[in-house]
Amino acid sequence: MKVLVTGSTGFIGLNLVHKLQTTNSFEPLTLVRESSQTEMLPAGVETVYGDLTQPGSFEDGLRRADALIHLAAVYPGYDNDTEQQAENEEGFIREVNVSGTQLLLERAADHNIETVVFTSTINAHPDLYDDTVDNQYVITKYEADQEIVHGDWPFDWSIIHPTYVIGPRDYRLNHFNLFQRVAANRLLVPPLYIPGQYNIVHVFDVVDTLRTALNEIGTNRFVVSGENHSASTLYRTIAAVADDNCFVPPIPRSVVSIGLSPIVNRLHNRGLYPINGAEFRSGVQRGTVPERFTNAAPAKQRSLRTTVKDAYNWYQSVGVL
Ligand SMILES: NC(=O)c1ccc[n+]([C@@H]2O[C@H](COP(=O)([O-])OP(=O)(O)OC[C@H]3O[C@@H](n4cnc5c(N)ncnc54)[C@H](OP(=O)(O)O)[C@@H]3O)[C@@H](O)[C@H]2O)c1
Repeated sequence: MKVLVTGSTGFIGLNLVHKLQTTNSFEPLTLVRESSQTEMLPAGVETVYGDLTQPGSFEDGLRRADALIHLAAVYPGYDNDTEQQAENEEGFIREVNVSGTQLLLERAADHNIETVVFTSTINAHPDLYDDTVDNQYVITKYEADQEIVHGDWPFDWSIIHPTYVIGPRDYRLNHFNLFQRVAANRLLVPPLYIPGQYNIVHVFDVVDTLRTALNEIGTNRFVVSGENHSASTLYRTIAAVADDNCFVPPIPRSVVSIGLSPIVNRLHNRGLYPINGAEFRSGVQRGTVPERFTNAAPAKQRSLRTTVKDAYNWYQSVGVL
């Protein structure tokens, strides 16, 4: 089965294409832009030009494919190389994530694509979506989801909702700061990190879910999640795989809330800390889900330790750690 992959040069896309290239049942065909950096794609993989903002540009790819995995998306701060894009970021995100997806689906239907797999995100899952959310990325992901759900499509489709994905081939270093923080500190306590919770999944679990979805018929929705872990548990796990050179003590919630937030507020007011005291007290929530949505991937999942170790080893292998 020939699978057209959009977003093939991104973090999940690269891992997916490398995996598909090793299988007998799937042959990847990667959609790339003129500006895409294609050096990290596996040797010998077929590429075809396409840009979600340019209607008509993905005809060739769709004509040659049997299935489509749609990963390409943008978020605030992505690709704002031109002044025009930076000025109208909201319009730019919508153009790629909603209009681009809509057009791609319509053209996929016309080209008799048999199966479409769309990668959404956990906060755009219809059961978890908060319609007061002020986040263009999540809003546009939800709108694209609804295009799929309410369309009368001739193809089978699946939507997948990963939580917070880490692992090898994070060439954009989107999740590197977690690891860098451990590497840079012998003692790691708030406010050196923001307390809160993370739900982490291995990028290979996401890839396995995408492959599973390619074989599904009908209409499907998959959550790809792990356990919810506190930030201190996550940092301690990173420290453990990084040879224990960094100590991450558990800090009581009351110390963080009462003791540290006035200090954080002062630092924030002087432009020395990214969030204010109230935000610090609430803490970060990255990919966290209600209990019934934990460990929900359809494929066998890697442990937090394995996930963190694979990411750590990869950052080391490319020389950034
Ligand atoms: N990473 C996570 O933690 C996470 C969690 C949940 C869901 N997801 C979802 O998973 C998908 C992949 O995420 P990722 O982290 O792999 O993303 P990423 O590393 O930021 O890569 C984005 C990809 O989209 C492509 N793209 C951007 N604009 C495009 C356009 N106009 N036309 C065609 N392609 C375009 C990029 O191509 P260029 O190389 O040319 O820029 C790149 O290949 C996204 O839909 C994301 O919402 C990710």
